[in-house]
Amino acid sequence: MIGNLALPVALVLFLLRIPSAQSPIPARYDGFPYGGSSGIERTILVEAFFDPLCPDSRDSWPPLKQVLLEYYPRVSLIVHPFPLPYHDNSYVACRALHIANMLNASATYPLLELFFQYQEKYYNGLTRNMSRASIIEEIAKDGAQAVGTSLLPAFIYAFSDTLSDSATRISFKYGCSRGVFGTPFFFVNGFALPDAGSAIDYETWKGTIDPLLGNHAQGMKAAVF
Ligand SMILES: *[C@@H]1O[C@H](CO)[C@@H](O)[C@H](O)[C@H]1NC(C)=O
Ligand SMILES: *[C@@H]1O[C@H](CO)[C@@H](O)[C@H](O)[C@H]1NC(C)=O
Repeated sequence: MIGNLALPVALVLFLLRIPSAQSPIPARYDGFPYGGSSGIERTILVEAFFDPLCPDSRDSWPPLKQVLLEYYPRVSLIVHPFPLPYHDNSYVACRALHIANMLNASATYPLLELFFQYQEKYYNGLTRNMSRASIIEEIAKDGAQAVGTSLLPAFIYAFSDTLSDSATRISFKYGCSRGVFGTPFFFVNGFALPDAGSAIDYETWKGTIDPLLGNHAQGMKAAVF
């Protein structure tokens, strides 16, 4: 029975794969930028929706970072924080990213990397008995490690500031408006990549980006994967 089903199932899976291999991603963000150079026409725009406490977001960051360094400045990245509701402390962590961005913009990515490094201590099970206030305090300490330790009081204070709350809500609502339902979730030039919720490895990133740069040999290779 299983043997008889294996072939049709394999065929269906194979056919389902074809649309994702023949990606409709355009080489540039769609549309006609008005007026002088806006920059958007010179770069491939990657958008990543990350939950800083999500292991798959964490695992997807090193290969994406490697690709960004390698393709700089032809590829640019915007990370949108997206707190998954089933990660109890994610909203606080996403809010901390907005606070870091407001206090010291160059600390935003270092803080994201700190969360990826230490995220296990904020998982649901380990924090079950912690109060909201003590979680905020812990997260603010991580935040201060990134923005500068002298800013710890400002970091804690920013958690009672409605600005950081509304910025975090906007990030979440923006993700919802684009149909994001898990993390990591990637868009390239505005188009969603398949396999949402899973890390994308280095080779797959190259296979996505190379054809957009007009590297047809690499593009053919990528289509085979
Ligand atoms: C939480 O508290 C309960 C009751 O005191 C205890 O049994 C449990 O081990 C604690 N859990 C953690 C993760 O500390
Ligand atoms: C801002 O953050 C960066 C990155 O963590 C750090 O190197 C720099 O010292 C910080 N600036 C201040 C004024 O603390």
